[in-house]
Formats: sequence, C-alpha cells, structure tokens
Amino acid sequence: MNNNAPIGIFDSGVGGLTVAHAIADLLPHENIIYFGDTAHLPYGDKSAEAIQHYSTKITDFLLQRQCKLIVIACNTAASVAFRLLKNYLADKKVPLINVIEPVVREVVEASFQHVGIIATKRTIQTGIYPATLQYLQPQLQTTAKATHALVTLIEEGLHHNKKVLEAMIEHYLSDPDFDTIEGLILGCTHYPIIKQDIARYFEVHRPNSLVPKIYDSTETVARRVKVVLETQNLLNTQQQTPQHHFYVSDYTAAFEQITATFFGQKINLAHFPIWEMPILDN
Ligand code: DGL
Repeated sequence: MNNNAPIGIFDSGVGGLTVAHAIADLLPHENIIYFGDTAHLPYGDKSAEAIQHYSTKITDFLLQRQCKLIVIACNTAASVAFRLLKNYLADKKVPLINVIEPVVREVVEASFQHVGIIATKRTIQTGIYPATLQYLQPQLQTTAKATHALVTLIEEGLHHNKKVLEAMIEHYLSDPDFDTIEGLILGCTHYPIIKQDIARYFEVHRPNSLVPKIYDSTETVARRVKVVLETQNLLNTQQQTPQHHFYVSDYTAAFEQITATFFGQKINLAHFPIWEMPILDN
C-alpha cells in the first residue's frame, strides 16, 4: 500500500464534509478523495438494500482511486452497510472506518446511566446505536429519536433562521423521554453544524447540573483515522500540500454553495456520474 495514496471518504451528500474537514485538520498532509452521492440524497429514508448497493458502488470507485483507507462518513450508510463493506474489503487490506463506533466508545467511557441519540429514520430504525452502546455497557438506558427534518433544514440553509431552528430543536428535544439524558449523540454527519444550537437549547431549558454532554463524530473519527494509519504504517510521510478532490454524483450549484457550511470553506465539487457509467469488466 502506498503511503501517499488518498484517504477515501463518502456520504450520501455533503454532510460527511464535516468529518472530512476534521480529518483534513488533524492530518494536514493526507490526500483526500470525497464522494457525495447527491444523486440519491437523502439516504435516511431509503431501504437498507438500496443504501448497501450505493455504498458498494462508491467503495469500488474509491478503490479504483487507490484509496488506502475508507471512511463511511454517513451514519445511515454505516448502520446498514458497514458489515457488508467490511467483508467486501477483507481481502483488499483497506481499513474501513465508520462514524458510529468511535463515538459509541467515547460515550461508554463516560459511564452515563442514560444517553439520547438523534439521527435519520433509517439509522434509528436499525437500532444500531442502542445495540452497540448496550453491547459495551449493558445497563445503559437509551432514548433514540428520528429527527430527519433537521437534515433538510440544514441543507436548505434554514438553520440560519434561528427562530425556525430553535422551534425545530425544541419540537424534537422537548420529548420527556430525553429529560434524564446525560449525553446526547448527534448520529448524523449533518448535525455538527447545529451542535452549538442544540447545546444552547439544553442550557436554556435545564438547570446547569443536568445539561447533557453532546457528542458528534467529527474529531473522534479523525482521531481514529490517525491511529489506524499510524498502526498500519500508512501515514503520509511527505510534508506536502495535500490534494483534496471532492466528487458528487449529481452536481448542482446549490450543493457547491453549501459546501462552505460543512467544510468551513468553499470547495470545488466535481461531477462524477457514477450511476451513468457503462458496465466494464475493469
Ligand atoms: N449524512 C447522513 C447521515 O449521517 C444523513 C443524510 C441523509 O439522510 O442522507 O446519516
């Protein structure tokens, strides 16, 4: 495996750029290839079979680009396709990282009694977060809630309208089932964008001692990527300015415009019509 090879990162769209940004920040010499499957956005209300199919095809694309490690920067895809892709990559020796496990491990370390999870419909339906949390901490109480409209809200840029955003956060988080949570997992790669707003909601609505700690997958996953590259001797040793390539399966100017929200700066998206390719043997 070539140390100079890129890290491959994929998501249903542009949300995974929050994870890509954290990786680029922590590993400033690594080349990155990002693929956002904007043609099929959102994954959150697709069937598991459809998401598995999309994820496999995107993984093939990243392998063709010689990626040395692949990150599923989408909770929805990770919740239904991680095992499948892990098996798929087993003989190719390309490590696969998902956005769920590193966060779950971090939360379990805190030894809470009750943890909340918000994510897309599909992620919640799989039960992946409660199952993984309780596998590691059997007595842990969990409350998981699908909050898919938050994805649409962020993509439409409506989170800039604080009134709308606050009303939506309150709508979901005022659920009494969340009253005793000590930690809240943002189980969707779009949600780090509104992390401060969610924190503020709890600060306003709860006495200080009961404000839950909020977890997202950005820096935790970046740290995991670093550890895996280190242990497998795959870190890029060249002190270079890295090359970052961002592809989407369906290009629109609107997608390009909102990349700044997710990546911290505006980036160029290239259209790669993965779903329109002819069938070739190689
Ligand atoms: N970014 C996806 C995730 O983390 C959510 C967006 C979607 O539904 O495609 O689950």
